[in-house]
Amino acid sequence: MLVAVDREGSRTLGRQIEDQLRNAIRDCALHPGSRLPSTRDLARELGVSRPIVVDAYAQLAGEGYLELRAGARPRVTGCAGQSRPPAANPLEPVTEPRYDFRPGSPDLASFPRSAWLRSVREALAGMRESDFGYTERTGSAGLRLALRDYLGRVRGVVADADRVVVTSGWCQGRTLLCHALVSLGARRIAIEDPCHDEVRLSCASAGLEMVPVPVDDEGLRVDALERTAVDAVLVTPAHQYPMGSVMSGARRGALLEWLRRHQAIAIEDDYDAEFRYDRAPVGALQGMAPERIVYAGTASKTLAPAMRLGWLVVPPRLLGPVQWQQRQADFGVPRIEQHAFADFLSRGELDRHLRRMRARYRARRDALVEALSDTLPEVRVHGIRAGLHVTIQLGEDDRGRVIRDEAARRGVALTALSDYYLDRSGDSSMLLLGYARCTEEVIRAGVRELAAAVRAARR
Ligand SMILES: Cc1ncc(COP(=O)(O)O)c(C=O)c1O
Repeated sequence: MLVAVDREGSRTLGRQIEDQLRNAIRDCALHPGSRLPSTRDLARELGVSRPIVVDAYAQLAGEGYLELRAGARPRVTGCAGQSRPPAANPLEPVTEPRYDFRPGSPDLASFPRSAWLRSVREALAGMRESDFGYTERTGSAGLRLALRDYLGRVRGVVADADRVVVTSGWCQGRTLLCHALVSLGARRIAIEDPCHDEVRLSCASAGLEMVPVPVDDEGLRVDALERTAVDAVLVTPAHQYPMGSVMSGARRGALLEWLRRHQAIAIEDDYDAEFRYDRAPVGALQGMAPERIVYAGTASKTLAPAMRLGWLVVPPRLLGPVQWQQRQADFGVPRIEQHAFADFLSRGELDRHLRRMRARYRARRDALVEALSDTLPEVRVHGIRAGLHVTIQLGEDDRGRVIRDEAARRGVALTALSDYYLDRSGDSSMLLLGYARCTEEVIRAGVRELAAAVRAARR
């Protein structure tokens, strides 16, 4: 508690405590609703007798600053005399839509809480004293080994553990990579168009010029890439985000050839390859050219965005610069979670969770596609049966943003594809719908509401 008493001061100790607390409440340093220490704890902390604190609290309660209840710690109530109005709390949860089809999230309700708790316990029990110190900036050795094994087994990634860099998600990994590329002299990067909208932020923050390259049903158009003079390219070959196509064998070959000829770097965002519903996933591109391709993965789709855990497998020539960028950014990712995730991976908990979730997501995707074809038969679904969202196309004259806004008014949240292009000036008839968070029943009701929004937008 930021209260101090001056024993030599002219005012009594009680008055000093009272004045400091009153000022803190008036200045909004203490917010309405926050709890103060008990009289016993504050007295002990300040080295004064307990009745002094009891009297100070009672005085503040009498003035309307505090609420006192037997057995509970005093609560700040605020008062009319506050010098500044309390700012709107930016952390307050926003109202959830009735039907949440926003893409990008796994089913948060299915987070494997008990298995994770067990891994946290195991981690805490097994961590050495030195593991709690300032060590292992680029990731705990145990997690890097576990990731090496998992990625090799599940995605065909070729990596030594010392080329794995643990990050706080792809978001941080991407920014580190962009800055590392610039430090090596890169100026221009090709990005898939459309792509995940936040890619722009990382490229811009590093000063990399983005060159949009179109995608089609076979993934990135490597013929168009040939016409760009770029130093690197960022791709989602396993499941193009957001269109949903898989990069074909021919395109993979062409991209590898382009990388070799230009001595360029590719960054492979392998965000949701674990979710395939009608086929075995194609292995990671990185396995075919580990010296030229950075592999990037994340726990945000398999487990939850709140994990803030991602990983890069970095080619030797980029490893030093990436580690240097991470060193400038922070001291690495929370290590207790890293130990827990290593335990979670090596006990097969992630595999078990994914088996369960694949069946659930497959059923949800099927329900969504069926409901769409029942209520909006003109809809065309793009991409393969995979991942956590579908990209759909409505009639030629429909406008995605207009429909999105109309749907939002009816409690249906989704996104318009036009917002994923580098040039956002157009408004196509395409929408993105995430299905992972909705049960089949909610999906059917949400699609009925969406169909009503489409009809209203057409009027
Ligand atoms: C294409 C794509 N890749 C990766 C991610 C994961 O990002 P992060 O690991 O920062 O949560 C996302 C998140 O929305 C995404 O859309």
